[in-house]
Amino acid sequence: MAIPQHFIQELLARADVVEIVGRYVQLKKTGANFSGLCPFHGEKSPSFTVSPSKQFYHCFGCGKNGNAIGFLMDHTGAGFVEVVHDLAQQYGLQVPEDERSPADRARAAQETEKRHTLTDVLARAGEAYKKHLRDTPRAVDYLKKRGLSGEIARDYGLGYAPEGWRTLAGVFPDYADPLLQESGLVIVGEDDDTRRYDRFRDRIMFPIRSVKGEVIGFGGRVLGDEKPKYLNSPETPVFHKGRELYGLFEARTALREHGYALVTEGYMDVVALAQLGFGNAVATLGTACTPDHASKLFRFTDQVVFSFDGDAAGRRAAHKALEAALPLASDTRSVKFLFLPPEHDPDSFIRAEGPEAFGQAVKNAVPLSRFLLDVATEECDMATAEGRSRFAANARPLWQLLPPGALAQQLLGDVAAQVQIGVHELESLWGIRRASPRNYENNSYSRSPDKRQRPKTFEKPAGRPLRRPPAGRCTRALQIVLTEPSAWDRLSQDEHVLLCDLPPPLGPLFTWLAGQALDHGPQPWSALREALRGHEFESVAVEEVQKLPPDIVSEPDELRGILRTERREQLKRHMDAALADGDMAHYQALLRALTEGEPQPPA
Ligand code: UTP
Ligand code: MN
Repeated sequence: MAIPQHFIQELLARADVVEIVGRYVQLKKTGANFSGLCPFHGEKSPSFTVSPSKQFYHCFGCGKNGNAIGFLMDHTGAGFVEVVHDLAQQYGLQVPEDERSPADRARAAQETEKRHTLTDVLARAGEAYKKHLRDTPRAVDYLKKRGLSGEIARDYGLGYAPEGWRTLAGVFPDYADPLLQESGLVIVGEDDDTRRYDRFRDRIMFPIRSVKGEVIGFGGRVLGDEKPKYLNSPETPVFHKGRELYGLFEARTALREHGYALVTEGYMDVVALAQLGFGNAVATLGTACTPDHASKLFRFTDQVVFSFDGDAAGRRAAHKALEAALPLASDTRSVKFLFLPPEHDPDSFIRAEGPEAFGQAVKNAVPLSRFLLDVATEECDMATAEGRSRFAANARPLWQLLPPGALAQQLLGDVAAQVQIGVHELESLWGIRRASPRNYENNSYSRSPDKRQRPKTFEKPAGRPLRRPPAGRCTRALQIVLTEPSAWDRLSQDEHVLLCDLPPPLGPLFTWLAGQALDHGPQPWSALREALRGHEFESVAVEEVQKLPPDIVSEPDELRGILRTERREQLKRHMDAALADGDMAHYQALLRALTEGEPQPPA
């Protein structure tokens, strides 16, 4: 999407992350930062901090972090473009769209328009279905018989599509409107397009909503035993079965309260669970869990419990969910698998055994790591070398889906143990190269100063054999000017020059920063981070800031002190060079400057 970079930057410089997060999270001032209960995972004591100077938030508990735009995306589930537009409106800014061609813009506008008309049509049908439910005792009785309360029916917008072929004609006077077909509500005869009729007839209607709350489709259940039991909306421009989760919109608050999402297979499971205290339940729509489903869920929570019926089909579905979840199972996330007794689905289980038993079953759910090993062990005789080898072969493709991290590393150990070989042997068997130990820079936070290593990027600059500037000091200066918006402006011209003259990557980064300060004035780290994208030394800058403890406060004096030392060191380096060149006059001048503590630009 072509929203120009500079605009994002400007927006981030204006938006106050403390104010924005504060709309959703109760924040308390703690030192230089604000803290509160993390909205992304359940917790009792606050580990979520927001830094006004960096304009970043960070949770020590779950590791989530980002800027104001990222927060709104994660918290509201809205997309990037939408958040940018909303924020722009709040700050009275116009999102520049000039980078899209007129044709692209027209197409985008048309798609938005279409989406709105389709969801509008679906919402109107949904309202009509609700009204019909109130007027149809037989349908109300069915829901009562299934144990559903009026409150839940209302919360989930349940309705009833009456018998009869053209009931919707009473809602939409132009029954031939192509939108009715496009939204999936009306079916048009293949060879006779005057033959039109309602798709949903004599069914309990479950509206399916997008994360924004728009009605995007329906599921309809027969009241008896006819087939098919459930009918779903077809794929339309606004409805894609493989991406949507039933109940996600309704579950948003409960997801935060419970701290995890419960993924089920059916509409009835979701509403029954919600009624009995598990409003955090969602359902895939008669399809297996896809990677799209999984990543959508992880936008709302870091913990997911997949629940499966206790039959063979449930087991197969669990395999699919495992594969969809593995690539997303980072160390800060938790994925579990809940298998119900064979005769039950979540709806029947919770009604038969009660919410407490269900809660207990959730607690006892199988962690992803164990399920992976279980799946790999299937049909392997672990008492024989052949069986264990087969197990290793089964485990490998699953293990490879995991992102690198502590979980992957431990599972590797578990697999090796079960195969009865060493981890190193398994690694070489699987062609895994060990990660080389991280090359920590000797910044001021380094725990073991005696093991300091100069980063490679500080290779001697070409030309004179200058004594190299120590990395730590100047790197720390970089950390400060990147994260303290006013720090750069407080430095003198001389000091700017000194920093910009440093060897790469620091010199070029300070030079870039000087340009930023000229063009935009002081900017928080969140805005600089955006502006850095594509910069030759982007990763250096980002890594330096990430190394900072989130709650660090840098005193203005610290930067001054660093620069004073650096200036003296620089003078000494130039004196070395002058000596080496035999330029004694220059050497003397530099020496004077050094002893007088006078700033003197080196020749
Ligand atoms: P189930 O057959 O397990 O039904 O289908 P259920 O959810 O337990 O429903 P009740 O309790 O009998 O009312 C699980 C899900 O599979 C999809 C639906 O999304 C359903 O919720 N499904 C099932 C269909 O799409 N079509 C069908 O004919 C059956
Ligand atoms: Mn059921």
